[in-house]
Amino acid sequence: MAQAIFIPRELDANEQRVAASPDTVKRLAGLGFEVVVEKGAGTDSRIPDEEFAKAGAAIGKAADASKADVVLKVRRPTDTELKGYKQGAAVIAIMDPYGNDAAVAAMAKAGITAFSMEFMPRITRAQVMDVLSSQANLAGYQAVIDAAAEYDRALPMMMTAAGTVPAAKTFIMGVGVAGLQAIATARRLGAVVTATDVRPAVKEQVQSLGAKFLAVEDEEFKAAETAGGYAKEMSKEYQAKQAALTAEHIAKQDIVITTALIPGRPAPKLVSAAMVASMKPGSVIVDLAVERGGNVEGAQAGKVVTTENGVKIVGHLNVPGRVAASASLLYAKNLYAFLETMVDKAAKTLAIKRDDELVKATMLTDGGKVVHPNFAKAAEEPRTEPAAIQAKTMVADAAERKPAKKSATGKSAAKSPSSKSEGIA
Ligand code: NAI
Repeated sequence: MAQAIFIPRELDANEQRVAASPDTVKRLAGLGFEVVVEKGAGTDSRIPDEEFAKAGAAIGKAADASKADVVLKVRRPTDTELKGYKQGAAVIAIMDPYGNDAAVAAMAKAGITAFSMEFMPRITRAQVMDVLSSQANLAGYQAVIDAAAEYDRALPMMMTAAGTVPAAKTFIMGVGVAGLQAIATARRLGAVVTATDVRPAVKEQVQSLGAKFLAVEDEEFKAAETAGGYAKEMSKEYQAKQAALTAEHIAKQDIVITTALIPGRPAPKLVSAAMVASMKPGSVIVDLAVERGGNVEGAQAGKVVTTENGVKIVGHLNVPGRVAASASLLYAKNLYAFLETMVDKAAKTLAIKRDDELVKATMLTDGGKVVHPNFAKAAEEPRTEPAAIQAKTMVADAAERKPAKKSATGKSAAKSPSSKSEGIA
């Protein structure tokens, strides 16, 4: 009998995405699996049950999870979901394990083999499986769309017989995957774009997208990028110089979009209440880091706050989920590409290669135990301070990641999703 793959409807009220698409269902069925999609799983991503059925899936109910050898999900399974899984089932999702040691232990106890997609190494072979990039790229796009929707003026310059509408001045703070796409999107909408980051490699990327780069380019800046390609936490002195430089600039901006993150640390505070107060009424700030502590003072997760001086601070949760129909297609493909590496194509069965570097990097629990090195210790020592483990392990994890592959033009291959669409590569 064929092994079964189950794709549930996500339970979290803020989750619109689904872990399969008609395309991936077809491919999974092609590998010899029986694919069951829960009724309504794709509704919020605009994929009707019939589309899944046409692609070869059976439409089932939540309880069908109990027969599955593989469960594909967006979010970590809840306790109720865990109870419904078969011992030894492989569950692949964005597990968000840091600071959630109890939930990781519960997955081990349930006997599932859990994979955390956000730990996928950033190496060439795994680029197609990189959920952080596929989702951050869309979040960067959606941040600009959200800003434009809150902004009660036009973004592009319009010269009309009745007068001229000036272009919106837009400032992007933090230029990783999300920030680059935000620059590209704001430019497409006709905004005048500036951007800042602490990593020197970003400067050329910003300029190649037609935006102006602004940063404190001192000795510390020159050494701010880790071997993994991420930012370090900057010194108090640097932060003060950065704040002095950006304060004057922010006061003149119409839209500010912040995306700055540091692995293992809370998001850096880049926009103070005083800077927010210096902006004109009707200006908009979008804080994409709000779920990680926020870059903007006064931002609230899940809310659009209007300040006393009429500045809107947008703090939407799950921004990729706001563009779910696109996000799900890419996410589903990320998952399929990973799962395919764990399939014995001749036997048409799951065959997890436990010595493969992708499996080692992402496997959280297996055989009733927490097996990921970053969490196994915490599972043995329940009294260890979770925040300290989180910081230590995230930094270790980031250090393990390899830098982005350079393309022939010297540009980061990591930027291919955004840079390709802009034709700069
Ligand atoms: P991220 O989500 O960790 O951070 C977003 C941005 O915030 C980064 O550019 C970071 O430098 C910036 N930032 C941090 N602190 C800041 C501060 N105080 N002020 C201003 N900006 C600050 O970054 P993301 O998007 O994950 O990209 C990190 C690196 O990974 C990049 O170098 C990227 O090229 C690389 N990458 C590699 C891939 C691969 O497959 N090899 C795939 C995707 C990204």
